[in-house]
Amino acid sequence: MTINFHQIKNFVRHFFTAKRNGHGVHSPFAYQLCEEVFYNKNKFYYFEELNTIRNLLLTNETEITVEDFGAGSKTFNSNNRRINALAKNGISTNKQSEILFKLLNFLNCKSSIELGTSLGLNTLYLALANKYGEVKSIEGSKNLFDFATSLSEKNNIHNIKFIHSTFDKALPMLLTEINSLDFFYVDGNHTYEATITYFKQALTKKNNQSVFVFDDIYWSKEMTEAWRFIINHEEVTLSIDAFYFGFVFFRKEISSKTNLKFYI
Ligand SMILES: C[S@@+](CC[C@H](N)C(=O)[O-])C[C@H]1O[C@@H](n2cnc3c(N)ncnc32)[C@H](O)[C@@H]1O
Repeated sequence: MTINFHQIKNFVRHFFTAKRNGHGVHSPFAYQLCEEVFYNKNKFYYFEELNTIRNLLLTNETEITVEDFGAGSKTFNSNNRRINALAKNGISTNKQSEILFKLLNFLNCKSSIELGTSLGLNTLYLALANKYGEVKSIEGSKNLFDFATSLSEKNNIHNIKFIHSTFDKALPMLLTEINSLDFFYVDGNHTYEATITYFKQALTKKNNQSVFVFDDIYWSKEMTEAWRFIINHEEVTLSIDAFYFGFVFFRKEISSKTNLKFYI
């Protein structure tokens, strides 16, 4: 995996300046997030099962062809990928997926959208975090869409709707189908333009409790610029920069805009 100077510089800054627990955090909601999500060491019931699925993917040597979308990949330089290589370097880590699980579970998110399915393992975390909710996950690559669909079927997890399409085409359509969006996860097409466009589109369906998560906010200078645009948006009342991903909230009860950094 290629790491660039922008990432290293920002990682070092994050390492030395980010908080490592909720001490001294004034916002009661942000403090709760620290306790219940970011630094909550509890292992949830489904984690063992999901970890077993991850381990199986890590030993799967099947090769598939994946079309290139959006901003491309810094990890792979050909269109042929082994499932185990994708499971190792192309999807959310165990820790990241567990944080998203805890977040959805804590906030009781019912309506979720994920941009970028890949193997669909992270989607299983999102679905199991709230079995009464539904996750819609968009993937442009047909082979990945097929793989993720069969992974969820094999594991009997049915509260997911996988969509084979580009984000640009499918997101506006999906948003017309729902009344409100509780959880929005942007994990693909890492360009400034695209990230801002998806953010603005999703804003039309946000509610007071919604959370939007942006992956790879330090992937490139333009992604960091997109993140700055997002946290400065007038509707955002709380932002949390966790380096690997950034979280934004719109709660009106948070009366003055708060931007926090956590080392998770
Ligand atoms: C980083 S992976 C997603 C990982 C997954 N969300 C996780 O947490 O493990 C990004 C995926 O988004 C897909 N993708 C990127 N840009 C896209 C676009 N514009 N339309 C549809 N799919 C896209 C890629 O094919 C890739 O599978």
